[in-house]
Amino acid sequence: MSNNQHNQEKLSSARFSEATDAFVEEFTASIQFDKRMYKQDIQGSIAHAKMLTKVGILNEQELQDIIDGLGKIQADIEAGKVAWSIKQEDIHMNIESRLTDLIGITGKKLHTGRSRNDQVATDIRLYLRDEIDLISAELKRLQQGLVMLAEREADTIMPGFTHLQTAQPVTFGHHMLAWFEMLKRDVERLQDCRKRVNTLPLGSAALAGTTYPIDRFYTAELLGFDRISENSLDGVSDRDFAIEFTAFAATLMMHLSRFSEELVLWSSAQFQFIDLPDRFCTGSSIMPQKKNPDVPELVRGKSGRVYGHLMSLLTLMKSQPLAYNKDNQEDKEPLFDTVDTVKGSLRAFADMMPALMVKRDVTYEAAKRGFSTATDLADYLVRNKGLAFRDSHEVVGLAVAHGVKTGQDLSEMSLETLQSFCEQITDDVFEVLTLEGSVAARDHIGGTAPNQVRAAVERAKAYLTT
Ligand code: ARG
Repeated sequence: MSNNQHNQEKLSSARFSEATDAFVEEFTASIQFDKRMYKQDIQGSIAHAKMLTKVGILNEQELQDIIDGLGKIQADIEAGKVAWSIKQEDIHMNIESRLTDLIGITGKKLHTGRSRNDQVATDIRLYLRDEIDLISAELKRLQQGLVMLAEREADTIMPGFTHLQTAQPVTFGHHMLAWFEMLKRDVERLQDCRKRVNTLPLGSAALAGTTYPIDRFYTAELLGFDRISENSLDGVSDRDFAIEFTAFAATLMMHLSRFSEELVLWSSAQFQFIDLPDRFCTGSSIMPQKKNPDVPELVRGKSGRVYGHLMSLLTLMKSQPLAYNKDNQEDKEPLFDTVDTVKGSLRAFADMMPALMVKRDVTYEAAKRGFSTATDLADYLVRNKGLAFRDSHEVVGLAVAHGVKTGQDLSEMSLETLQSFCEQITDDVFEVLTLEGSVAARDHIGGTAPNQVRAAVERAKAYLTT
C-alpha cells in the first residue's frame, strides 16, 4: 500500500496509520532553517557517541564508523553535495538518516540515550556560543576603531548638545569614548549571557532523563561546556539563554541606532561635522548632489527587527507548559536573524570608524556659535568673583541676550561690554571664554578635557588587551 510505503520513511512510522499530509510535512519541518546548525549537530553527535563508548554502550569500531560517517557527511554538506529532505523534518533527522545510509545499523545506534529535544537544545547552545565569540571579536574591533578616533581627535572641539541645542563645548574624542562606554556594557552583558548559554542540556533526553548509564560530565567536557543542566524538564525547554542574547542584541542595536542617528545628522549639509567615506554611501537616482549615509540609516532601521525578535521570543516562551513543545522550533529564525543583523551591523560600523573624517574647522565654528561657554562665564563669576550661582546665571543671561542682538559670541565682546553686565569682570575672563579654556577646565576623570581624553584612551587600550 502506498500509505505504508510513505510511512516507512516517516519517523516512528509504526505508530501511524495514515501518511502525513504533504502540506503539514512542509509546515512542520525546520530543515529549511535549522540546516544552519549542521556543524554543531555533528559536533554534538560525535561527543555523544564518545560518551556512549566510554560507558560501554557502543564499541570502539562502532564509534569509529560513526565518526568517519559524520566526517564524510560534514564534508559533503560543505561541498554542497547534500540535498536536504523535508521528509526528514530537521537537521537532526537528515544527518542521522544519511549516517544510516552510509554505515548501516550502527548509524541507528547513535540516538541511544538521547532525544531530539535535548539534541536541539544542545545544538542551539553550541551554535550561539560560537556566534557570541565572533560577535565579541567584532565588538572589540569597533571599540578599537573608537579608541583610535578618540586619540586622533582628543583636542578637536565640537559643540556638546542637550536637547540637540548647543550646550557646552566638548572634545570629539570625548564623544567617541561615550560610544565606547556603551559598547563596554554591551560586552559585559554578552559575556554574562555566554555563561548561561554554555550549559549542557544533553542527557535530559525527551524530558525525564534516560535509563542508560550516561556520563553527562564527560560529554560536557568534550564539548567545552562549563556545566550541565540540573533538571531534565528544564533542560529541554529552557530558552532563556536565547532571550537573554536577544536582549543583549536589542540593547546593542539601540546603541548603534544612536551612533547612526548622530552620523546621519553630522554628515548632513546642515551640520557638516564629518565626511563619511564614499564607499559607505550611495547616490540618488534623481538628485545629483546627494550622498546618502545609507549604512548608518540601515543600521538605525535594523534595530527595529531585533526588538521584534526579542518580543517574538518572549511571547514564544510565554505560558508554555513543561517540557518541550513544538512551539520551541520557532526560536530559531528570530535568533538566527538577530545574529545576522548584529554581525552585519557591527561589521559595517567597525569598517566605517577608521575612515571617518572630522571637519575640525566646522565643529569648532559650530561650538562657537551657540554661546557654548556661557556656563564657563557663570562659573567664573562664582569661583573668581564670589557671586552666588543664581545671580551669575542672571548676569550671563543678559550678556547672551546682548550677543544674540549683536551677533557676537561672548569671547568676541569687549571687556567694557562685559563689565556693563557685571562690573567685577576683569580681563582674565577671556581665558575661560575661549573654547580651548572651557574644555581644558573640565579636567577630572570622566570630564571632556583633552588630557582626560588621553588618559581615558590609555585605560581603554589596557582594557582592550585583556
Ligand atoms: N525540529 C525540532 C526543533 O527545532 C527538533 C525537536 C523536535 N522534537 C520533537 N519531539 N518533535 O525544535
